[in-house]
Amino acid sequence: MPVASIRSICCIGAGYVGGPTMAVIADRCPDVQVTVVDINQTRIDAWNNSDLSRLPVYEPGLDAVVRRARGRNLHFSTAVEEAIAAADMVFISVNTPTKTKGLGAGQASDLRWVEACARQVTKSATGHTIVVEKSTLPVRTAEAVKAILASAEQSSDGSQVTFAVLSNPEFLAEGTAIQDLESPDRVLIGGEDPDAIDSLVSVYSHWVPQERILRTNLWSSELSKLTANAFLAQRISSINSVAALCEATGADVREVARAIGSDSRIGAKFLQAGPGFGGSCFQKDILNLVYLCRHFGLPDVANYWESVVQLNSWQQHRIARTVVQKLFGTVTGKHVAILGFAFKADTNDTREAPAIRIAKDLLEEGAQLAIHDPKVDSEQIARDLQLPASTEPDVESGLTRAALSGEGTWWPSDDIASAIKGADAVIILTEWNQYRELNWAVLAPLMRQPAWVFDARSVVTPSEIQAAGLNLWRVGEGQP
Ligand code: UDX
Ligand code: ADP
Repeated sequence: MPVASIRSICCIGAGYVGGPTMAVIADRCPDVQVTVVDINQTRIDAWNNSDLSRLPVYEPGLDAVVRRARGRNLHFSTAVEEAIAAADMVFISVNTPTKTKGLGAGQASDLRWVEACARQVTKSATGHTIVVEKSTLPVRTAEAVKAILASAEQSSDGSQVTFAVLSNPEFLAEGTAIQDLESPDRVLIGGEDPDAIDSLVSVYSHWVPQERILRTNLWSSELSKLTANAFLAQRISSINSVAALCEATGADVREVARAIGSDSRIGAKFLQAGPGFGGSCFQKDILNLVYLCRHFGLPDVANYWESVVQLNSWQQHRIARTVVQKLFGTVTGKHVAILGFAFKADTNDTREAPAIRIAKDLLEEGAQLAIHDPKVDSEQIARDLQLPASTEPDVESGLTRAALSGEGTWWPSDDIASAIKGADAVIILTEWNQYRELNWAVLAPLMRQPAWVFDARSVVTPSEIQAAGLNLWRVGEGQP
C-alpha cells in the first residue's frame, strides 16, 4: 500500500482526549478534514455551542483553537457511520474505565466501547482505512481490534476494504492539554505497517519536529503509555512515603525533594508531596499493569506496582487520621473546612480526587464539613461522597441536629470565609492559587480556638499561620 496522504480523519469519541486532540490536529493541518463523532448528542451540541466558554471540556487555550478551526475543517457530529465511511484514518478515543464486575473486576480495563467501535468501523469503512488507537489500552488490545477488522476484510463482498492498525497513545495532562498537544515531548506511533505509520507521521509532521516522533512496535507503544503513567505515579508515592518519614524524624520533605531533584539523573519534576495522586489515569493504568503482570505469570512484578496504589490510599487515610488525632482524637460534631475538591488545580475534574477519600473518612468520624472549590459544583461533590448536601448550619447557634446525633454531614460553601467561620480546622487539599493568597490574620479570628490549618499541598506561608495564632500541620514537615 503506497503512503496515503491523509485528507479526511474521523475520531470516534468527543471526550476529554478526542476533542482537544482533534481540535489541535485540525488547527495545524488545514488541508485535512477532521470530524469528531460521538453517540452522546448533548456532548456534540456542547462542542458546537457558539458560546466557546461552554465547550464540554475546560482547557486553557482550547477555545481559541476551536474558534480557528471549527466549521473550516473541524466538525462535531453524531453521524458516526457517515464520518467513518468518508475517513482515510479513524481514531478510536472512547472511554476505557476499570471493569466493575466479572473477570478482572477492579483492575482490568472495560473494553466494550473499544470493541463496539471496531465493529462500527468494519460496518461503515470504505477502501483502505488506518485505525488508530488513541484511548489508553491494555497491551495487546490492538490484536483484538485487528482480529475484528480482519473479519470484515475477509467477508467483504464486492468492494475491497482493508485496514491497518496503529497505536498512538496520548500523554496530555489536564490543564495543560493544549500546550502538551502543540509542543509534545514526544509523539509515539506503534505499528507494523510502515506505510500506515508514515501516513500518521505526515499528519504530526505539520507541527512536530521529526526527532520527537518515535516509531515502535504496537505492543511497545501500548506498554509505554501504561509505563509512563506508572513511573510518574511511582514518584509521587515515593515522595509521599518519604514525607511520612520526614514528619516522624524532623526532616522537611520540601528540602529533601529539592536536594534529590537537583541530581540531574533524578530531576526536579513530580516530587511534590501531597494528599496522593488522583485523576482518571494513574490508578487505572497501574491497576491495568498489575492485571497484565498477573495474567502473564509475573506476580512479584504485579505486587511491586500494586504497592504504588496502596501507598497512595494509605497517604489519604493517613491525612484524615492525622486531622482526627490533632483535634483531640475526635471530629464528631466538629466543623472542618475543606478547601479544594478537584484532583489538582485548574480543573473541575474530581475523578479519584484525594479529597473524596479524606472527606469520606472524616464524615465517617461524624465531622461537619464545609467544602469549597472554585470550579467543582455541589452536585458533583454529592455524587462523589454519595451523600446529599445538607444546609449550612447557623454557626451562632452551634451544632446542627445531625452533629449532635454524631452523623457526618457536608455543605457547599461559595466563599472561603464562610466555609471557615466557626471551624476547628481547615484542610487544604487542592493547590488552587487563591489558597496561596489567603489573609490568615483576617480568617483566624473567625475560627473556634484552638484551631488548626492542615496544609496537604504546601501552599501556605508558615510564618503567617503562626503569626495568626493558628496551629499548623504541613505534609512532610517534622518538628526538629
Ligand atoms: C496524567 C499524566 O501526567 C498524563 O501524561 C497522562 O496522559 C494522564 O495522566 P493528569 O492526570 O491530568 O495527567 O494530571 P497530573 O498533572 O499528572 O497529576 C496527577 C496527580 O498527581 C494529581 O492528583 C496531582 O495533584 C498529583 N501530583 C502531581 C502530586 O501529588 N505531586 C506531583 O509532584 C505531581
Ligand atoms: P476520555 O477521557 O478517554 O476522552 P471520555 O469519557 O471523556 O473519555 O469520552 C469518551 C467519549 O466516547 C464519550 O463522550 C462517549 O459518549 C463516547 N463513545 C463511547 N462509545 C462510543 C461509540 N461506540 N461511538 C461513538 N462514541 C462513543
